[in-house]
Amino acid sequence: MSGDADLVAIIRTVDLTKRFEDVAAVDNLNLSIEDGEIFGLLGPNGAGKTTTVLMLSTVIKPTNGTAFVGDFDVRKNPNDVRKLIGICFQEPKLLWVSTPWDVLNWHAKVCGLATEERKRRVKQVLNDVNMWEARRKSVHGLSGGMRKRVEIAKVLIQRPKIAFVDEPTAQIDVIGKHKIWNMIRQLRDEGSTIILATNELYEADVLSDRVGIMHKGGLLVCDTPRTLKDSIPGGDIVEIHLEKEATDKVLEELKSLKEISDIAEINPKSLRVYLNNVEEVVPQIMKAFLKRNLPILSIKMSEPSLDDVFVHYTGLTIEEAQQKMIKGEADG
Ligand SMILES: Nc1ncnc2c1ncn2[C@@H]1O[C@H](COP(=O)(O)OP(=O)(O)OP(=O)(O)O)[C@@H](O)[C@H]1O
Ligand SMILES: [Mg+2]
Repeated sequence: MSGDADLVAIIRTVDLTKRFEDVAAVDNLNLSIEDGEIFGLLGPNGAGKTTTVLMLSTVIKPTNGTAFVGDFDVRKNPNDVRKLIGICFQEPKLLWVSTPWDVLNWHAKVCGLATEERKRRVKQVLNDVNMWEARRKSVHGLSGGMRKRVEIAKVLIQRPKIAFVDEPTAQIDVIGKHKIWNMIRQLRDEGSTIILATNELYEADVLSDRVGIMHKGGLLVCDTPRTLKDSIPGGDIVEIHLEKEATDKVLEELKSLKEISDIAEINPKSLRVYLNNVEEVVPQIMKAFLKRNLPILSIKMSEPSLDDVFVHYTGLTIEEAQQKMIKGEADG
């Protein structure tokens, strides 16, 4: 998606910065989000994702810089911004209304849905997030995952032009996660732009059209998950097990392919090939063996994860960066 001239930025940040005393939670962030995409903000705990989301949704004010949401400046026209957006908070606020049904019915009212439409949509979304049975439970008795389901349901009922979803499936079980991912995709397909803040690599990878990886309040890289993964030299790995030993000739031919960065011999009949563009190169690899009458017994492919992308740019896994942050060493 990136780079196409006809795509329109619906959100643009300009040196967006938020300081909390001596901590730059968001540090000169320049970022552009396109109309109609699911944009994943991925990063370890403390990277600045929530702070970014809260500034874009006008919940908190930037210390420096600004952001444009739709045509509006979050500093100058916060009320206009609020008309465009919906938000699923990372930490759902304490609810003063008593049951999931009340929360959502009230939210739908505030969003201006007429009575019949409101009833229909609240029922539909409560069913979709598996909370229909629990709709009359006291919110104070809900589990963490159930609270999160109610929180994401608010956005699904509202269908805002721009939806901020901050860790939308944290604490939710695997089946629930998949259902919610599908609903978020559907929201995008119906025309909403989604900003997804997450520290779950898999969630960012499967859901996002583009991902911006944040670290220490800044943006490390930003592109489609595919392009980010392909940007790691030799990031794809193919293991090949042969019936006979590989010959020098075939190894030479493979090494001459520009996509192949390295070949390791696990043993004379087994090779590990580090490469890029695995889908395009594997047929060429197979051809090279077959034309020399070297049958392949098995072939196993693995592609890099977004964690490998993070490692490539920071030297740390997301988990390690998180541990450092927790220990207060993030500035080191
Ligand atoms: N209200 C606040 N007061 C002081 N410091 C804050 C406040 N909110 C956030 N911070 C700090 O700003 C930094 C970024 O926090 P933020 O919540 O934006 O991170 P995050 O990327 O959303 O992390 P997580 O994955 O844990 O949700 C952290 O160092 C955090 O301690
Ligand atoms: Mg957060």
